[in-house]
Amino acid sequence: MSEVLSFNDVSVVRGRKDLLKDVSWEVNEGERWIVLGPNGAGKSTLMNIAAARLHPTRGTAQILGETMGRVDVFELRPLIGLSSALVANSIPGRETALNVVLTAAYGMTGRWREKYEKLDERRAFGLLHEWGMSTFMNQSFDKLSEGERKRVLIARSLMTDPELLILDEPAAGLDLAGRETLVAKLSELAADEYAPALVLVTHHLEEVPAGFTHILMMRDGQVVAAGEIEKTLTEENLEATYGMPLALRSENGRFSAFARN
Ligand SMILES: Nc1ncnc2c1ncn2[C@@H]1O[C@H](COP(=O)(O)OP(=O)(O)OP(=O)(O)O)[C@@H](O)[C@H]1O
Ligand SMILES: [Mg+2]
Repeated sequence: MSEVLSFNDVSVVRGRKDLLKDVSWEVNEGERWIVLGPNGAGKSTLMNIAAARLHPTRGTAQILGETMGRVDVFELRPLIGLSSALVANSIPGRETALNVVLTAAYGMTGRWREKYEKLDERRAFGLLHEWGMSTFMNQSFDKLSEGERKRVLIARSLMTDPELLILDEPAAGLDLAGRETLVAKLSELAADEYAPALVLVTHHLEEVPAGFTHILMMRDGQVVAAGEIEKTLTEENLEATYGMPLALRSENGRFSAFARN
């Protein structure tokens, strides 16, 4: 099995603060990872390194066999799909849903003067359709609902047929039905043997789609636990991650947690 991510003692220092401290983490082809941890734990910082958007201050980060610092990140980025609040904010509001997906083919946001091949257009439409958004293809991004926007962003992150797909809080702001629809789609994606390696950052165990295989639990820029979900997602590790006693429930491959008294 080939390595998708191989991080060795990765640290990110800003001023006097360690945003990440000695993070070692490995993701292999075919694995589906959850990244869990409180606000400020360093999850998005870690995702920015995994997406070749940020260099570690110390340590080595290998992405798809290439070492950050020794590779042209502009060649690496199209191989990594990323959907996050930062990506959403960088999209011009007036862009149509179709163009939001289409422009990913060129690693840029905002349709400018590029000529798009018919093939790319067809692929972008196909992805919108797959994520239930084809009827919105001509609607501008800022007029879409939160949930619709999330789905367009995921379609966008798949446009380049990446080898690694990173979704940073894709279900944030969705209503219950929207969340469940998204979680079911992600579960389908997880089961697809041709899908890229998946990394999903979430705050809520209810958002962990069935079929995800591994979990990375973080606190204060450090790894609390990492490994297969069945062995790693335990009440003990949840308590160490959040600093409070939590009761964990699981049913039919889905999870939830509540304060334990
Ligand atoms: N450029 C920066 N300079 C200083 N501190 C920063 C910088 N960028 C992020 N931070 C801090 O680093 C910490 C980790 O941020 P990060 O966004 O990675 O957390 P997170 O786990 O994604 O949190 P959340 O769940 O709220 O999204 C936070 O305390 C944040 O304030
Ligand atoms: Mg974050």
